[in-house]
Amino acid sequence: MSESAKLSFKGQEFEFPVITGTENESAIDIAKLRSESGLITLDPGYKNTGATKSAITFLDGEEGILRYRGYRIEDLAEKSTFLEVSYLLIYGELPTQSEYENFSKEITHHTLVHEDIKKILEGFPSNAHPMGVLSSLICALTAFYPDSLNPNRNIEEVNLSIIRLIAKMPTFAAWAYKNEMGHPVNYPDNSLDYCSNFLKMMFALPAEKYDVDPVVSSALDKLLILHADHEQNCSTSTVRIVGSSQASIYASISAGINALWGPLHGGANQSVIEMLEAIKADGGDAKKYLDKAKDKNDPFRLMGFGHRVYKNFDPRAKIIKKAADDVLEKLGVNDPILEIAKELEFAALNDQYFIDRQLYPNVDFYSGIIYRALGIPTDMFTVMFALGRLPGWIAQWKEMRENNEPIGRPRQVYTGANERDYVSMNRR
Ligand code: SDX
Repeated sequence: MSESAKLSFKGQEFEFPVITGTENESAIDIAKLRSESGLITLDPGYKNTGATKSAITFLDGEEGILRYRGYRIEDLAEKSTFLEVSYLLIYGELPTQSEYENFSKEITHHTLVHEDIKKILEGFPSNAHPMGVLSSLICALTAFYPDSLNPNRNIEEVNLSIIRLIAKMPTFAAWAYKNEMGHPVNYPDNSLDYCSNFLKMMFALPAEKYDVDPVVSSALDKLLILHADHEQNCSTSTVRIVGSSQASIYASISAGINALWGPLHGGANQSVIEMLEAIKADGGDAKKYLDKAKDKNDPFRLMGFGHRVYKNFDPRAKIIKKAADDVLEKLGVNDPILEIAKELEFAALNDQYFIDRQLYPNVDFYSGIIYRALGIPTDMFTVMFALGRLPGWIAQWKEMRENNEPIGRPRQVYTGANERDYVSMNRR
């Protein structure tokens, strides 16, 4: 028996169907709300509004649960690899051995980028933020692969674009870093696995032998898994809405990169480290910064804390916090910032302001500490987030296109001037 919800307005009663998902989440289907009642809903930030039905990622903010295609994030982080998780998110099932080998071979075959990309890269000053470089280079793929401009073309074309994105994003990310360092770029080394190839492109220097530390590549692989998807977050919603106009997947992903850049979203991992360094430079007084975060007259927020959905521990933060201890110990890194982070976390979790608002550490609170230990510079942290989130963006874009979803076009409540006549300038 299907459920429904009633609405009464101005003496009229309206009834709308309620749909329930596979994890018993329910939503009022308001497709006919305006045509039947003349009303629309208003929900800035979409805090209570579902934009779509999706079979990709499930998260329960109250229980701190995160699953990709039904698989627990804890299991995938411990037992899987980033490429296997990418396949799972995009195609819906864990690959067989031969499916995985074919997928991995396809990606390896496409890591190289057109030499003319270097001309675009050279146009960026060395102080260009790597996120701006990355989103520009991804959008530039539309120029090198014009067949991608019509995503309705055929599934083979879309799948080739998907492979190209996963294969070339590490190359672009490493090249953005080399541009910032003023170093020559490194070409991909197809004898290496996904993360090792990226690390070598990032850190290898001419005339010097570079061996990838397996501890570093393994830690990076785990971090990419933890960032791979997160249902309808800000950047994923951006990818979906850009894709809903039938723009190419490259244009949609480029838009997602820009949305992720903001400090309230993926840019938080960079802001967390900048915050922790500021606390350290200021004598390490965690309480002073907690008080600033609580002060409504102070724009300062405790970066890496709080979440739109998680009102409990972000399961990714738990995994990353443990990994931070493991990786720093294995690498013999003693980073005082980690201790400051732990003191800040302890103080916040025991502070009524944070308890009342259910503010817990999120994925960004500890991730930067590991990236630092891996030798990745702070302004590359959000690029790492984008590298991890790429398969999630692709999976969500693909689902939106396969479900033939309509163009995204929200309504509004107008609060501006009522009708008035134009007055010529000499009479104003
Ligand atoms: C990511 O959506 C996703 O899934 C995102 C993500 C993903 O994987 O894609 O998980 C990745 O973006 C993680 C979040 C990274 N951002 C930060 O760490 C920035 C700091 N956090 C906040 O800015 C905030 O918590 C947000 C943006 C994450 C969530 O904001 P909401 O849901 O809009 O909540 P809100 O701003 O309405 O805050 C509710 C209350 C407010 O106080 P009151 O007005 O009720 O008194 O909590 C307070 C806020 O002032 N608050 C904070 C705070 N976060 C919320 N106060 C101090 N420090 C904070 N960090």
